[in-house]
Amino acid sequence: MKKIFIYYSHSGNGDLVAEFYKKKGYDVEKIIPSNPLPKNKFLSILIGGYKASVGYKDKLKKLSIDPNNYDEIIIGSPIWNSRLSSPINSLLNKIQLATKKTTFILYSASGKPNKATELLKKHYPKSRIINLTEPKKYPQEFEDILKKKG
Ligand SMILES: Cc1cc2nc3c(=O)[nH]c(=O)nc-3n(C[C@H](O)[C@H](O)[C@H](O)COP(=O)(O)O)c2cc1C
Repeated sequence: MKKIFIYYSHSGNGDLVAEFYKKKGYDVEKIIPSNPLPKNKFLSILIGGYKASVGYKDKLKKLSIDPNNYDEIIIGSPIWNSRLSSPINSLLNKIQLATKKTTFILYSASGKPNKATELLKKHYPKSRIINLTEPKKYPQEFEDILKKKG
């Protein structure tokens, strides 16, 4: 069975989750928006928060794999303004998840991504959702959660 962790990360939390799945034998693909958020924290919150709130879909650089060729997909997204990040909105637009074993891993400061969870439950009712709180800050906690559920 072919399995992949495909994700976005602006500030490195998702990269730690990617390392975890790489060690477990998953293929790993990081999606890169053509126009990433600025490095400045205030501006990034302002722009990313706005993009997430309107469901914006970023233009993405070409992927090195076709996610549709996998049987199991784990999708990792940071939470922006309680919602999915805008690069992940684009990814979801490109892939067919109906027949695949799908898990969403959402990393955030609060660990409570309410609006993203509502949307995912509505559109992907069979998928699993795992919430993580700042993997970079709490590395042991996130590994423990993924070892149990991931
Ligand atoms: C634009 C933006 C909006 C954010 N909004 C939220 C939010 O609504 N709730 C929350 O708990 N964390 C929020 N965060 C924090 C991130 O979700 C959190 O730091 C996450 O772990 C970042 O993952 P990354 O380092 O892989 O990009 C926000 C961060 C950014 C940049």
